Amino acid sequence: MSDSLFVTVPEHVAIIMDGNGRWAKGRGLPRTMGHRKGVEAVRETVRTAGDIGIKYLTLFAFSSENWRRPEAEVTDLLGLLKAFIRRDLAELHRQNVRIRVIGDRQGLRSDILNLLIEAEETTRSNTALTLVIAFNYGSRDEIARAAASLAKDVEAGRLRAQDISPELINSRLDTAGIPDPDLIIRTSGEERLSNFLLWQAAYSEFIFLPEYWPDFSRDLFLSALEKYASRDRRFGGLSAKAAATGS
Ligand code: IPE
Ligand code: IPE
Ligand code: MG
Repeated sequence: MSDSLFVTVPEHVAIIMDGNGRWAKGRGLPRTMGHRKGVEAVRETVRTAGDIGIKYLTLFAFSSENWRRPEAEVTDLLGLLKAFIRRDLAELHRQNVRIRVIGDRQGLRSDILNLLIEAEETTRSNTALTLVIAFNYGSRDEIARAAASLAKDVEAGRLRAQDISPELINSRLDTAGIPDPDLIIRTSGEERLSNFLLWQAAYSEFIFLPEYWPDFSRDLFLSALEKYASRDRRFGGLSAKAAATGS
């Protein structure tokens, strides 16, 4: 498939990378093998996003609810994230990728936190793709933290309650400065958000794919983008065509 097929390239694509465990189970392998294979799919996806000129790619790597998994799996997932940043940071930097991390940083292990900060600092001035890693991320937690920060300002007399607007709330979210996702893709056949970008997804398009995350490929990504390009986004108004013809 040729990349030039896309007239409408989304500025921001967010992906719920789901199905690593089931991918492994289907092959009689331990879940950890699915997570390992999932990291390869991440590499290919970041490359593809950069190639086609997507400006923001958000990947849901670990949710604030994923701590509920068995300790061994949590340790494995944290280890893979660390290994990914250690191994891939230089290459991502070379590709002019800027890294941003969203999610709660409070209480994170210092080795993980330091690596995440290093990734952000190293790539701060890069100007190609922004790779947003959602780690220890939960949308309700993010909104609650934003609300608490606004309440603190009201308490201190720096802000009046009546001045709280959607824009101000936006500016206190972890995603401040990042445009809302145009397209949210979820793999593995599950059709839910699982506490991902609830506020930011107000007008996102959704594509749910049956494939498990380790099988997500450049071709699957390109065909999802093609599907996205055929969608008619109205944002509560009229489609561009209807507005132009008055019908
Ligand atoms: C996605 O795959 C990876 C994370 C949630 C970190 P899963 O581990 O959720 O795989 P399934 O959904 O159990 O198949
Ligand atoms: C969502 O997948 C979180 C990530 C992909 C990191 P889950 O596998 O945790 O979601 P549920 O539990 O099926 O809703
Ligand atoms: Mg899952």
